[in-house]
Amino acid sequence: MRDGWIIVTGASRGIGAAIANDLARRGAKVAALSRSGAAPAGLRGLACDVCDEAALAAAFEALSQDGPITGIVNNAGQHRSGPSATLKTDDFDALMRLNATSVFVASRLAYPYLVKSGGGTIVNIGSFFDKLGVAENLAYSASKAAVGAITRCLAVEWARDKIRVFSVAPGYIETDLNREWLASERTQSWIKRRVPVGRPGQPDEVARLVGCLMAEDIGFLSGETIYIDGAHGINH
Ligand SMILES: NC(=O)c1ccc[n+]([C@@H]2O[C@H](COP(=O)([O-])OP(=O)(O)OC[C@H]3O[C@@H](n4cnc5c(N)ncnc54)[C@H](OP(=O)(O)O)[C@@H]3O)[C@@H](O)[C@H]2O)c1
Repeated sequence: MRDGWIIVTGASRGIGAAIANDLARRGAKVAALSRSGAAPAGLRGLACDVCDEAALAAAFEALSQDGPITGIVNNAGQHRSGPSATLKTDDFDALMRLNATSVFVASRLAYPYLVKSGGGTIVNIGSFFDKLGVAENLAYSASKAAVGAITRCLAVEWARDKIRVFSVAPGYIETDLNREWLASERTQSWIKRRVPVGRPGQPDEVARLVGCLMAEDIGFLSGETIYIDGAHGINH
């Protein structure tokens, strides 16, 4: 693992906390950003809303005083669902702002620091909904499709700066975001039928994939959306 900060957004719990822990296990210096500022034990926590551009800029600048920034994992996000016929424009915009626009803004703000450190890796957490038609998930699916597009455009544009950009797109992973829904008997039997692996994923499985991408530093691999969904998204 290179010497330098890897910033993980939304790292106070769930997938983000697992990613932060996995990177730390691999020897990275990890900064955990979230609105609460809570961080897994032993890691540096910073309170920062990823929708607040000035707060993000201040957090990156503060970290850079304490060493180079070599990576960012744009993980902070929320899930919302509801019928499209009554989806309010403001609610659509708010989810796009958090799940997609913040990924672009944080990447743009990280860019000069990554260039200064000689390149780096950006991992954006998408979702397998980015390629599916999911009833009552219009805003969420659109936001995650945008994450894939942002990933591809940045990978192409910043390759010359030795910056690699990925989208890691999970299927159902057991976290606070969906724990109640996953616990119901109806969901569990549906998951057994629909997900070839037969169960939801665990945060540490996503974390180990992100950790590999960061640690292995495979220069010729960039721009891809990598699905980690127990083969759910390709199941006929
Ligand atoms: N769980 C799944 O099945 C699943 C599947 C596919 C994709 N994903 C994606 O994986 C990512 C993490 O999901 P999760 O399941 O781990 O969710 P989670 O358990 O609800 O955790 C969300 C994290 O994001 C932080 N956060 C939320 N809004 C924020 C904001 N405006 N600024 C900064 N931090 C913010 C939260 O901390 P604070 O509340 O302290 O801010 C928390 O640390 C999301 O992008 C989600 O869309 C999840």
